Amino acid sequence: MLAGKRILLIIGGGIAAYKSLELIRLLTKAGASVVPVLTKAGTEFVTPLSVSALAGVRVYTDLFDLTDEAEMGHIQLSRAADLVVVAPATADLMSKMATGRADDLASTLLLATDKRVLIAPAMNVRMWQHPATQRNLATLQADGVLVAGPNDGDMACGEFGPGRMAEPAEVLAAVEAALGTGVLTGRHVLVTSGPTHEPIDPVRYIANRSSGAQGTALAAALRDLGARVTFVTGPATVPPPSGVTVIRVETARQMLAAVQAALPVDAAVMAAAVADWRVANEGAQKMKKDGSGKAPALEFAENPDILASVARGTPRPRLVVGFAAETEHVVDHATAKRARKGCDWIVANDVSPATGIMGGTENAVTLITEHGAETWPRMGKDQVAARLATRIAEALQ
Ligand code: CTP
Repeated sequence: MLAGKRILLIIGGGIAAYKSLELIRLLTKAGASVVPVLTKAGTEFVTPLSVSALAGVRVYTDLFDLTDEAEMGHIQLSRAADLVVVAPATADLMSKMATGRADDLASTLLLATDKRVLIAPAMNVRMWQHPATQRNLATLQADGVLVAGPNDGDMACGEFGPGRMAEPAEVLAAVEAALGTGVLTGRHVLVTSGPTHEPIDPVRYIANRSSGAQGTALAAALRDLGARVTFVTGPATVPPPSGVTVIRVETARQMLAAVQAALPVDAAVMAAAVADWRVANEGAQKMKKDGSGKAPALEFAENPDILASVARGTPRPRLVVGFAAETEHVVDHATAKRARKGCDWIVANDVSPATGIMGGTENAVTLITEHGAETWPRMGKDQVAARLATRIAEALQ
Protein backbone atom coordinates (compact mmCIF):
# COMPACT_ATOMS: atom_id res chain seq x y z
CA MET A 1 0.00 0.00 0.00
CA LEU A 2 3.07 2.24 -0.04
CA ALA A 3 4.09 1.44 -3.61
CA GLY A 4 6.11 4.23 -5.12
CA LYS A 5 6.46 6.08 -1.81
CA ARG A 6 9.85 7.23 -0.68
CA ILE A 7 10.60 7.37 3.04
CA LEU A 8 13.61 9.15 4.48
CA LEU A 9 14.21 7.24 7.71
CA ILE A 10 16.38 8.89 10.35
CA ILE A 11 17.56 6.43 12.98
CA GLY A 12 18.50 8.07 16.27
CA GLY A 13 20.79 6.70 18.93
CA GLY A 14 18.80 4.70 21.42
CA ILE A 15 18.34 1.09 22.42
CA ALA A 16 15.10 1.10 20.38
CA ALA A 17 17.17 1.59 17.21
CA TYR A 18 16.99 -2.18 16.69
CA LYS A 19 13.25 -1.73 15.99
CA SER A 20 14.14 0.47 13.02
CA LEU A 21 15.48 -2.63 11.25
CA GLU A 22 12.06 -4.28 11.45
CA LEU A 23 10.49 -0.98 10.40
CA ILE A 24 12.65 -0.91 7.25
CA ARG A 25 11.54 -4.48 6.51
CA LEU A 26 7.85 -3.59 6.93
CA LEU A 27 8.13 -0.39 4.88
CA THR A 28 9.88 -2.12 1.99
CA LYS A 29 7.43 -5.05 2.18
CA ALA A 30 4.59 -2.50 1.84
CA GLY A 31 6.23 -1.23 -1.35
CA ALA A 32 8.05 1.86 -0.08
CA SER A 33 11.65 2.68 -0.84
CA VAL A 34 13.59 3.62 2.26
CA VAL A 35 16.54 5.99 2.31
CA PRO A 36 18.18 5.46 5.70
CA VAL A 37 20.16 8.01 7.68
CA LEU A 38 21.97 6.97 10.84
CA THR A 39 22.95 9.57 13.42
CA LYS A 40 26.40 9.18 14.94
CA ALA A 41 24.79 7.90 18.16
CA GLY A 42 22.60 5.58 16.05
CA THR A 43 25.69 3.81 14.77
CA GLU A 44 26.42 2.78 18.38
CA PHE A 45 23.22 0.69 18.35
CA VAL A 46 22.84 -0.65 14.80
CA THR A 47 25.47 -0.99 12.14
CA PRO A 48 25.37 0.87 8.81
CA LEU A 49 25.83 -2.50 7.14
CA SER A 50 22.67 -4.08 8.60
CA VAL A 51 20.65 -0.94 7.81
CA SER A 52 21.80 -0.71 4.21
CA ALA A 53 21.43 -4.47 3.70
CA LEU A 54 17.77 -4.29 4.71
CA ALA A 55 17.01 -1.07 2.85
CA GLY A 56 18.86 -2.26 -0.22
CA VAL A 57 20.55 1.13 -0.62
CA ARG A 58 23.47 2.91 0.96
CA VAL A 59 23.04 4.50 4.36
CA TYR A 60 23.94 8.14 4.98
CA THR A 61 25.75 8.76 8.22
CA ASP A 62 26.91 12.38 8.50
CA LEU A 63 27.18 15.68 6.66
CA PHE A 64 30.58 14.73 5.35
CA ASP A 65 28.89 12.03 3.30
CA LEU A 66 27.33 14.58 1.06
CA THR A 67 30.35 16.68 0.19
CA ASP A 68 31.34 14.42 -2.70
CA GLU A 69 27.79 14.19 -4.01
CA ALA A 70 26.98 17.58 -5.38
CA GLU A 71 23.87 16.23 -7.10
CA MET A 72 22.46 14.79 -3.88
CA GLY A 73 23.09 17.44 -1.25
CA HIS A 74 21.25 17.53 2.02
CA ILE A 75 18.56 19.86 0.66
CA GLN A 76 17.75 17.47 -2.15
CA LEU A 77 17.97 14.41 0.06
CA SER A 78 15.47 15.93 2.49
CA ARG A 79 13.04 16.88 -0.27
CA ALA A 80 13.13 13.82 -2.50
CA ALA A 81 11.17 11.93 0.17
CA ASP A 82 7.38 11.75 0.49
CA LEU A 83 7.69 11.55 4.26
CA VAL A 84 10.51 11.92 6.78
CA VAL A 85 10.35 9.41 9.63
CA VAL A 86 12.48 9.68 12.77
CA ALA A 87 12.56 6.34 14.61
CA PRO A 88 13.70 6.21 17.29
CA ALA A 89 13.41 9.93 18.02
CA THR A 90 15.60 10.50 21.07
CA ALA A 91 15.16 13.35 23.56
CA ASP A 92 18.24 14.96 21.99
CA LEU A 93 16.88 14.76 18.44
CA MET A 94 13.51 16.14 19.55
CA SER A 95 15.30 19.01 21.28
CA LYS A 96 17.34 19.78 18.17
CA MET A 97 14.21 19.68 16.01
CA ALA A 98 12.29 21.94 18.39
CA THR A 99 15.06 24.54 18.44
CA GLY A 100 16.04 24.27 14.79
CA ARG A 101 19.60 23.16 15.40
CA ALA A 102 21.47 21.75 12.42
CA ASP A 103 24.82 20.41 13.56
CA ASP A 104 24.85 17.01 11.87
CA LEU A 105 23.27 15.35 8.84
CA ALA A 106 20.04 14.22 10.56
CA SER A 107 19.23 17.58 12.14
CA THR A 108 20.21 19.42 8.94
CA LEU A 109 17.85 17.24 6.88
CA LEU A 110 15.07 17.84 9.38
CA LEU A 111 15.56 21.59 9.13
CA ALA A 112 15.87 21.59 5.35
CA THR A 113 12.92 19.36 4.49
CA ASP A 114 9.67 20.65 3.03
CA LYS A 115 7.91 17.33 3.68
CA ARG A 116 5.89 16.12 6.65
CA VAL A 117 7.83 14.62 9.51
CA LEU A 118 6.69 11.70 11.68
CA ILE A 119 8.58 10.94 14.88
CA ALA A 120 8.49 7.79 17.02
CA PRO A 121 9.92 8.95 20.35
CA ALA A 122 11.85 6.49 22.52
CA MET A 123 13.56 7.32 25.78
CA ASN A 124 13.64 6.69 29.50
CA VAL A 125 10.31 7.45 31.18
CA ARG A 126 11.71 10.35 33.25
CA MET A 127 13.30 11.89 30.18
CA TRP A 128 9.96 11.60 28.35
CA GLN A 129 8.03 13.12 31.25
CA HIS A 130 10.56 15.91 31.84
CA PRO A 131 8.99 19.33 31.24
CA ALA A 132 11.73 20.12 28.71
CA THR A 133 10.82 17.11 26.54
CA GLN A 134 7.10 17.81 26.91
CA ARG A 135 7.76 21.42 25.88
CA ASN A 136 9.69 20.23 22.85
CA LEU A 137 6.89 17.80 22.00
CA ALA A 138 4.29 20.57 22.17
CA THR A 139 6.48 22.78 19.94
CA LEU A 140 6.93 20.00 17.40
CA GLN A 141 3.22 19.17 17.33
CA ALA A 142 2.43 22.87 16.87
CA ASP A 143 4.87 22.80 13.93
CA GLY A 144 2.79 19.98 12.40
CA VAL A 145 5.14 17.12 13.26
CA LEU A 146 3.24 13.82 13.54
CA VAL A 147 3.91 11.60 16.54
CA ALA A 148 3.57 7.80 16.87
CA GLY A 149 3.74 6.54 20.48
CA PRO A 150 5.56 6.26 22.76
CA ASN A 151 3.96 3.27 24.44
CA ASP A 152 3.78 2.30 28.09
CA GLY A 153 5.71 -0.72 29.23
CA ASP A 154 8.85 -2.21 30.72
CA MET A 155 11.87 -0.33 29.54
CA ALA A 156 15.38 -1.52 28.79
CA CYS A 157 16.58 0.67 31.68
CA GLY A 158 14.46 -1.34 34.13
CA GLU A 159 11.80 1.33 34.69
CA PHE A 160 8.16 1.18 33.68
CA GLY A 161 6.01 3.81 31.99
CA PRO A 162 5.67 5.79 28.77
CA GLY A 163 8.81 5.99 26.69
CA ARG A 164 8.98 2.72 24.74
CA MET A 165 9.14 3.28 21.02
CA ALA A 166 5.90 2.39 19.20
CA GLU A 167 6.08 -1.06 17.62
CA PRO A 168 7.24 -1.11 13.98
CA ALA A 169 3.73 -2.12 12.84
CA GLU A 170 2.32 0.91 14.65
CA VAL A 171 4.86 3.21 13.00
CA LEU A 172 4.03 1.64 9.63
CA ALA A 173 0.34 2.36 10.28
CA ALA A 174 1.19 5.96 11.17
CA VAL A 175 3.20 6.24 7.93
CA GLU A 176 0.26 4.90 5.92
CA ALA A 177 -2.13 7.24 7.70
CA ALA A 178 0.22 10.21 7.09
CA LEU A 179 0.47 9.36 3.41
CA GLY A 180 -3.26 8.66 3.16
CA THR A 181 -2.82 5.16 1.78
CA GLY A 182 -4.89 3.05 4.23
CA VAL A 183 -8.20 1.49 3.06
CA LEU A 184 -10.07 3.52 5.69
CA THR A 185 -8.32 6.80 4.87
CA GLY A 186 -10.83 9.61 4.96
CA ARG A 187 -13.30 7.63 7.11
CA HIS A 188 -14.25 8.66 10.63
CA VAL A 189 -14.99 5.79 13.00
CA LEU A 190 -16.28 6.05 16.55
CA VAL A 191 -15.36 3.35 19.07
CA THR A 192 -16.69 3.10 22.62
CA SER A 193 -14.76 1.00 25.08
CA GLY A 194 -14.28 0.01 28.70
CA PRO A 195 -16.73 -0.10 31.59
CA THR A 196 -18.75 2.76 32.98
CA HIS A 197 -18.67 3.77 36.63
CA GLU A 198 -21.98 4.74 38.16
CA PRO A 199 -21.54 6.65 41.41
CA ILE A 200 -23.25 5.63 44.65
CA ASP A 201 -21.81 8.61 46.50
CA PRO A 202 -18.67 10.76 45.99
CA VAL A 203 -16.34 7.87 46.92
CA ARG A 204 -18.14 4.70 45.79
CA TYR A 205 -19.37 3.44 42.46
CA ILE A 206 -20.87 0.44 40.64
CA ALA A 207 -18.70 -0.97 37.86
CA ASN A 208 -18.13 -4.13 35.82
CA ARG A 209 -15.15 -6.29 34.88
CA SER A 210 -14.53 -4.88 31.39
CA SER A 211 -10.82 -4.04 30.87
CA GLY A 212 -11.35 -2.15 27.61
CA ALA A 213 -8.91 -4.52 25.85
CA GLN A 214 -11.19 -5.45 22.93
CA GLY A 215 -12.33 -1.87 22.26
CA THR A 216 -8.75 -0.60 22.47
CA ALA A 217 -7.50 -3.28 20.06
CA LEU A 218 -10.32 -2.41 17.69
CA ALA A 219 -9.55 1.32 17.75
CA ALA A 220 -5.89 0.53 17.01
CA ALA A 221 -6.82 -1.83 14.15
CA LEU A 222 -9.13 0.77 12.57
CA ARG A 223 -6.41 3.43 12.95
CA ASP A 224 -3.97 1.03 11.29
CA LEU A 225 -6.25 0.91 8.25
CA GLY A 226 -6.10 4.71 8.03
CA ALA A 227 -9.36 5.66 9.77
CA ARG A 228 -9.69 8.78 11.87
CA VAL A 229 -10.80 7.23 15.15
CA THR A 230 -12.67 8.91 17.99
CA PHE A 231 -12.25 6.69 21.04
CA VAL A 232 -14.74 7.26 23.85
CA THR A 233 -13.59 5.26 26.84
CA GLY A 234 -14.82 4.59 30.34
CA PRO A 235 -12.28 3.97 33.13
CA ALA A 236 -10.50 1.05 31.42
CA THR A 237 -7.50 -0.81 32.81
CA VAL A 238 -5.60 -0.95 29.50
CA PRO A 239 -4.18 2.36 28.18
CA PRO A 240 -5.83 3.88 25.09
CA PRO A 241 -4.06 3.47 21.74
CA SER A 242 -1.86 6.22 20.31
CA GLY A 243 -2.88 8.10 17.20
CA VAL A 244 -6.59 8.31 18.01
CA THR A 245 -8.70 11.05 19.60
CA VAL A 246 -9.32 9.90 23.17
CA ILE A 247 -12.36 11.12 25.11
CA ARG A 248 -12.46 9.87 28.69
CA VAL A 249 -15.79 9.53 30.46
CA GLU A 250 -17.01 7.87 33.61
CA THR A 251 -20.75 7.35 33.48
CA ALA A 252 -23.15 6.07 30.82
CA ARG A 253 -24.74 9.47 30.51
CA GLN A 254 -21.34 11.12 29.94
CA MET A 255 -20.59 8.43 27.35
CA LEU A 256 -23.83 9.19 25.51
CA ALA A 257 -23.01 12.91 25.45
CA ALA A 258 -19.48 12.24 24.15
CA VAL A 259 -20.81 9.88 21.48
CA GLN A 260 -23.39 12.38 20.28
CA ALA A 261 -20.73 15.10 20.16
CA ALA A 262 -18.53 12.88 17.96
CA LEU A 263 -21.21 12.46 15.25
CA PRO A 264 -21.32 12.38 12.27
CA VAL A 265 -19.20 9.29 11.74
CA ASP A 266 -19.04 6.70 8.95
CA ALA A 267 -19.17 3.79 11.40
CA ALA A 268 -19.81 3.42 15.12
CA VAL A 269 -18.55 0.41 17.02
CA MET A 270 -19.90 0.16 20.55
CA ALA A 271 -17.59 -2.13 22.47
CA ALA A 272 -18.16 -0.47 25.85
CA ALA A 273 -19.71 -2.46 28.68
CA VAL A 274 -22.20 0.21 29.64
CA ALA A 275 -23.95 -0.11 33.01
CA ASP A 276 -27.66 -0.63 32.39
CA TRP A 277 -28.54 1.02 35.66
CA ARG A 278 -27.35 3.97 37.67
CA VAL A 279 -28.06 4.81 41.29
CA ALA A 280 -31.07 7.12 41.34
CA ASN A 281 -30.56 8.21 44.94
CA GLU A 282 -26.84 8.97 44.57
CA GLY A 283 -25.54 10.53 47.80
CA ALA A 284 -24.19 14.06 47.58
CA GLN A 285 -21.99 13.20 50.57
CA LYS A 286 -20.35 9.93 51.61
CA MET A 287 -23.04 7.60 52.94
CA LYS A 288 -22.37 6.92 56.63
CA LYS A 289 -23.34 3.97 58.80
CA ASP A 290 -26.10 5.12 61.11
CA GLY A 291 -25.32 2.56 63.82
CA SER A 292 -28.56 0.64 63.32
CA GLY A 293 -26.87 -2.14 61.33
CA LYS A 294 -29.35 -1.51 58.50
CA ALA A 295 -27.87 -1.40 54.99
CA PRO A 296 -28.78 1.67 52.93
CA ALA A 297 -31.33 0.97 50.20
CA LEU A 298 -30.10 1.88 46.73
CA GLU A 299 -32.67 2.84 44.14
CA PHE A 300 -31.86 2.44 40.46
CA ALA A 301 -32.78 4.30 37.30
CA GLU A 302 -32.27 2.94 33.79
CA ASN A 303 -29.37 4.39 31.81
CA PRO A 304 -29.87 5.57 28.23
CA ASP A 305 -29.09 2.92 25.61
CA ILE A 306 -26.24 4.53 23.69
CA LEU A 307 -26.13 1.94 20.92
CA ALA A 308 -29.87 2.10 20.24
CA SER A 309 -29.87 5.90 20.28
CA VAL A 310 -27.09 6.00 17.64
CA ALA A 311 -28.66 3.23 15.53
CA ARG A 312 -32.08 4.88 15.57
CA GLY A 313 -30.95 8.52 15.64
CA THR A 314 -29.67 11.03 13.11
CA PRO A 315 -27.22 11.41 11.56
CA ARG A 316 -27.08 7.61 11.48
CA PRO A 317 -23.64 6.15 10.71
CA ARG A 318 -23.63 3.94 7.62
CA LEU A 319 -22.59 1.03 9.82
CA VAL A 320 -23.52 0.57 13.47
CA VAL A 321 -21.89 -2.33 15.28
CA GLY A 322 -22.85 -3.43 18.79
CA PHE A 323 -21.37 -6.02 21.09
CA ALA A 324 -23.39 -8.48 23.10
CA ALA A 325 -22.05 -9.76 26.37
CA GLU A 326 -24.00 -12.92 27.13
CA THR A 327 -23.65 -15.79 29.55
CA GLU A 328 -26.11 -18.22 27.91
CA HIS A 329 -27.99 -18.76 24.60
CA VAL A 330 -25.41 -16.44 23.06
CA VAL A 331 -26.58 -16.51 19.42
CA ASP A 332 -30.30 -16.34 20.22
CA HIS A 333 -29.90 -13.50 22.68
CA ALA A 334 -27.53 -11.58 20.42
CA THR A 335 -29.78 -12.01 17.38
CA ALA A 336 -32.70 -10.63 19.38
CA LYS A 337 -30.47 -7.80 20.64
CA ARG A 338 -29.53 -6.83 17.06
CA ALA A 339 -33.19 -6.43 16.17
CA ARG A 340 -34.07 -4.68 19.43
CA LYS A 341 -31.28 -2.12 19.16
CA GLY A 342 -31.58 -1.51 15.42
CA CYS A 343 -27.85 -1.98 14.74
CA ASP A 344 -26.39 -3.57 11.59
CA TRP A 345 -24.07 -6.08 13.24
CA ILE A 346 -23.68 -7.58 16.67
CA VAL A 347 -20.41 -9.08 17.84
CA ALA A 348 -21.54 -11.61 20.41
CA ASN A 349 -19.35 -13.15 23.04
CA ASP A 350 -19.83 -15.51 25.95
CA VAL A 351 -18.62 -13.69 29.03
CA SER A 352 -19.31 -16.51 31.53
CA PRO A 353 -16.42 -16.53 34.05
CA ALA A 354 -15.33 -19.98 32.81
CA THR A 355 -14.47 -18.55 29.36
CA GLY A 356 -11.93 -16.07 30.84
CA ILE A 357 -12.92 -13.61 28.10
CA MET A 358 -13.92 -10.59 30.17
CA GLY A 359 -10.64 -9.07 31.33
CA GLY A 360 -8.64 -11.71 29.38
CA THR A 361 -6.51 -11.48 26.22
CA GLU A 362 -8.55 -13.80 24.00
CA ASN A 363 -12.03 -13.66 22.61
CA ALA A 364 -14.39 -16.11 20.90
CA VAL A 365 -17.01 -14.20 18.96
CA THR A 366 -19.98 -14.78 16.72
CA LEU A 367 -20.65 -12.03 14.20
CA ILE A 368 -24.35 -11.55 13.60
CA THR A 369 -25.35 -9.66 10.47
CA GLU A 370 -28.46 -9.52 8.31
CA HIS A 371 -27.16 -12.72 6.67
CA GLY A 372 -27.10 -14.72 9.92
CA ALA A 373 -24.53 -15.87 12.47
CA GLU A 374 -20.86 -16.49 11.72
CA THR A 375 -18.81 -18.07 14.49
CA TRP A 376 -15.08 -17.26 14.54
CA PRO A 377 -12.52 -19.49 16.23
CA ARG A 378 -11.15 -18.37 19.60
CA MET A 379 -8.22 -16.00 18.99
CA GLY A 380 -6.35 -13.05 20.52
CA LYS A 381 -8.36 -9.85 20.97
CA ASP A 382 -5.87 -8.16 18.60
CA GLN A 383 -6.70 -10.72 15.91
CA VAL A 384 -10.44 -10.34 16.46
CA ALA A 385 -9.90 -6.58 16.13
CA ALA A 386 -7.90 -6.88 12.89
CA ARG A 387 -10.50 -9.19 11.35
CA LEU A 388 -13.39 -7.00 12.39
CA ALA A 389 -11.64 -3.84 11.17
CA THR A 390 -11.14 -5.47 7.77
CA ARG A 391 -14.84 -6.38 7.62
CA ILE A 392 -15.78 -2.83 8.58
CA ALA A 393 -13.50 -1.49 5.82
CA GLU A 394 -15.20 -3.80 3.28
CA ALA A 395 -18.64 -2.65 4.42
CA LEU A 396 -17.65 1.00 3.99
CA GLN A 397 -16.23 0.55 0.48
N1 CTP B 1 -25.08 -0.58 25.27
C1 CTP B 1 -25.26 0.77 25.20
N2 CTP B 1 -25.90 1.44 26.20
C2 CTP B 1 -26.40 0.78 27.25
C3 CTP B 1 -26.22 -0.63 27.34
C4 CTP B 1 -25.55 -1.27 26.33
O1 CTP B 1 -24.82 1.39 24.22
N3 CTP B 1 -27.02 1.44 28.21
C5 CTP B 1 -24.42 -1.26 24.15
C6 CTP B 1 -23.10 -1.93 24.47
O2 CTP B 1 -22.02 -1.05 24.21
C7 CTP B 1 -23.11 -3.09 23.51
C8 CTP B 1 -24.57 -3.44 23.36
O3 CTP B 1 -25.29 -2.28 23.76
O4 CTP B 1 -22.63 -2.73 22.23
C9 CTP B 1 -25.06 -4.60 24.15
O5 CTP B 1 -24.64 -4.51 25.48
P1 CTP B 1 -25.07 -5.64 26.51
O6 CTP B 1 -24.61 -5.27 27.87
O7 CTP B 1 -24.69 -6.99 25.97
O8 CTP B 1 -26.65 -5.57 26.36
P2 CTP B 1 -27.75 -4.88 27.22
O9 CTP B 1 -28.24 -3.68 26.50
O10 CTP B 1 -27.26 -4.68 28.59
O11 CTP B 1 -28.90 -5.97 27.19
P3 CTP B 1 -29.21 -7.17 28.22
O12 CTP B 1 -29.42 -6.52 29.52
O13 CTP B 1 -30.42 -7.80 27.62
O14 CTP B 1 -28.03 -8.09 28.16
